[in-house]
Amino acid sequence: MTDYTQLLAEAMKARENSYCPYSGFAVGAALLTTDGEIYRGCNVENSSYGATNCAERTALFAAVADGRRRGDFVAIAIAGGPKDGELIPCPPCGICRQALSEFADAAEFKVLWATGEDIEYEEHTLAELLPFGFTL
Ligand code: THU
Repeated sequence: MTDYTQLLAEAMKARENSYCPYSGFAVGAALLTTDGEIYRGCNVENSSYGATNCAERTALFAAVADGRRRGDFVAIAIAGGPKDGELIPCPPCGICRQALSEFADAAEFKVLWATGEDIEYEEHTLAELLPFGFTL
């Protein structure tokens, strides 16, 4: 099993840039490509609430805007918890699962999230988290 400790550390670094004045919940994500590049993202909130973007989609959209496409992604690490507080398990929301499935083979792509401060994490395939995901 691959050790994603470094990717998780990148997600924790990304979390430092979280803009979350409304929820006070800071999330960072790090998306690994097949050629070893890492795209970072954080949650970016908005006073309308609805315009908020999750950390996972921020990372994914940065990668896609940089020219990355389906087949380019290996795994995403997520680190979330109260701003200035300790990490708590933060599995991706349903919209982010669907967004990731657009650009990754769900049976292969790994999703992991920090379970606490000790660089420990839980790992699943995207298919486990999004069975029967919608595709065209
Ligand atoms: N959030 C994420 O960034 N990723 C998730 O997987 C779940 C939720 C953000 C959205 C919002 O800014 C805050 O966490 C509270 O929901």
